[in-house]
Amino acid sequence: MAQSPVKRHLVKLLETAKTRGVPEDIQTQIQTCIDCANALDDYCDTITSPSSEAMKNLITETETHPWKQAHDEGKTQWMVSSRMLSGALEGTFLKTLAGMSNAKRVLEVGLFTGCGALAMAEALPADGKVVTCELSEYVGDVARKLVDQSPHGKKIDIMIGPAAESIQQLATEGQQFDMVFIDANKEGYIDYYKIIMDNDMLTPRGTILIDNALHGGQAYLPKDKLQLDESRIAQSHVMREFNDYVYNDNRVNQVMVPIRDGVMMIRRKEAFEGEA
Ligand SMILES: C[S@@+](CC[C@H](N)C(=O)[O-])C[C@H]1O[C@@H](n2cnc3c(N)ncnc32)[C@H](O)[C@@H]1O
Repeated sequence: MAQSPVKRHLVKLLETAKTRGVPEDIQTQIQTCIDCANALDDYCDTITSPSSEAMKNLITETETHPWKQAHDEGKTQWMVSSRMLSGALEGTFLKTLAGMSNAKRVLEVGLFTGCGALAMAEALPADGKVVTCELSEYVGDVARKLVDQSPHGKKIDIMIGPAAESIQQLATEGQQFDMVFIDANKEGYIDYYKIIMDNDMLTPRGTILIDNALHGGQAYLPKDKLQLDESRIAQSHVMREFNDYVYNDNRVNQVMVPIRDGVMMIRRKEAFEGEA
């Protein structure tokens, strides 16, 4: 997960303060700010209901999986890391939303090891379904083994391949979903969103959730405030463009929820407003 830009700047400030010999009491105050930011995250994690045993196991297995070795052996095309996990807090958030909305059919774009997929599956009725898209066959196999350790794993269908193709296939089949969670390659988000909305894949009262909608500050900070390396700066406009695209789409209303790296919740306009 991208670190919050405030925390990133504070860590950098503390390093500078130490190297410049800034008085100890000021260094201590900067450290206190970092501790406060960490304490908020820790508190949100600890006061949230504990995850299922299968979910705890999935998270531990993901954190200890030999991803580097898999990459060195050519099993993954890019370096995968446990930082890609949505995690226990966001998983419980997704599970709560799936339950609250009485969702029966969920589409996930970007499976990784199955944290989000399993969390949402845990809230669905026995005949509910999570259809989830993953580019990497190796990662998909790891996820299959992990989610199948849960009795809810049978509700999860994995589609391997580029997500745009998988979603297009589902659109051609006329499939609709009550909840969609988009959490894959950021530069694909506009395409995924368009395929879903233009093909009427969202049920009338359905919700689309966009993960990393704040993108570590890249959605709202100017480039000179980001402290990112050149390659990431070049991509820093992607999430801002996506958010603007949704803002200007008059079919929907949306709300930005600043949980973790930001989750944007999008609903059809007709579903957003109640009756007077
Ligand atoms: C941030 S992770 C997903 C995390 C997951 N949703 C969770 O809850 O833990 C993003 C995943 O999207 C996959 N991905 C990246 N580009 C993709 C594409 N074009 N099509 C399908 N999956 C893609 C990556 O392989 C990775 O596993």
